[in-house]
Amino acid sequence: MENVPVRRRTLLIPSLLLILLTAGLLFWFAETWLRIILLYLSSATWARSFVSGMPVAKKVAGRFVAGERIEDAVNASRDLNHKDMLVTLDYLGESVTNIYEAIDARDEILRLLQVIHEEKLDANVSIKLSQIGLKLDEQLALDSARMIAERARQFGNKIRIDMEESEVVDATLDIYHALRYHYGLQNVGVVIQAYLYRSEEDVRSLIGEGAWVRLCKGAYMEPPEVAFPNKLDTDRNFIDLMKMLLSDEARQNGVYLGVATHDEEMIKATIDFTTAHHIDPAEFEFQMLFGIRRSMQQSLVSQGYKMRVYVPYGTAWYPYFVRRLAERPANLWFFISNLIRA
Ligand code: FDA
Repeated sequence: MENVPVRRRTLLIPSLLLILLTAGLLFWFAETWLRIILLYLSSATWARSFVSGMPVAKKVAGRFVAGERIEDAVNASRDLNHKDMLVTLDYLGESVTNIYEAIDARDEILRLLQVIHEEKLDANVSIKLSQIGLKLDEQLALDSARMIAERARQFGNKIRIDMEESEVVDATLDIYHALRYHYGLQNVGVVIQAYLYRSEEDVRSLIGEGAWVRLCKGAYMEPPEVAFPNKLDTDRNFIDLMKMLLSDEARQNGVYLGVATHDEEMIKATIDFTTAHHIDPAEFEFQMLFGIRRSMQQSLVSQGYKMRVYVPYGTAWYPYFVRRLAERPANLWFFISNLIRA
């Protein structure tokens, strides 16, 4: 720098800043577009059949999925239980295209509940209503969900209804309410996505009902008419909803919250809030996905918090896997580097 003339030196610093700013903006645009493209691909049938047939994709997906067979899910769950973690098992599959697939999925979930009971696993089950026919026949989905919840109740277990795209949020909440109030199945929980504008209103009603709620940010491609386009707004809403769901009123009504995130800021906000309000760690739980931030999962357990790991298994891993890629571009580079090496 000492040999650079003063005029060039004064130009050098703004130029470097400009380059850094441009690079930052390009990176931000690239990441945003990458996310949009990946979320589109997660539901594109042509991409599904293409990628699902690639052995390398299957290998990389193995990072986020316990395996293809029920035995793989049992082994992963047992391992997590030994590490003092709770589990929710997910038989992969969504948006089935005919009622035979929907009925097969229901039967596999019933079998899964039986296996959890026989193997004495500390695990409940997460289901997607589109996997048991919601988009084909709502009555079929309700009947199957009822059968699953009744079987779970028989074993003293619970089921959680995952939340899918915004178009099915009303139908999902309708089925959840029918199970709880029409059929008296209190062992059913639901999911709230912080990116949806409507979630604050939904949370108010769920607090009134003393519901069993999982709070997550939301994983689907949603238009700005229904969801915050900006991640910072979603994060802010997540913290607001977490505070509502852990409030005195909510807990007195019987609300039990699963804080489902890998985001350190969201976790810290939850710990700060519960510590400040003397809320016992037994009154809520953290939840994370299988294979993501394992050391943080273990660290929360050693700090005395409950940790439930969402363990997916099955052959229909494609949409689940591509949503995980969309959440973190580094996962995509990992996938691409494996592709190049294959
Ligand atoms: P965010 O995406 O901001 O990530 C924070 C940090 O966590 C990242 O910087 C990264 O370090 C790490 N991280 C996040 N995702 C990662 C990934 N895929 N791979 C590696 N690192 C990653 N959604 C939905 O719409 N309906 C549902 O029913 C559910 N159910 C559900 C259950 C459970 C137990 C979890 C944990 C999540 C869900 N989700 C979901 C998904 C959820 O909506 C969201 O898309 C992901 O959890 C990612 O958001 P984070 O809160 O982790 O924050």
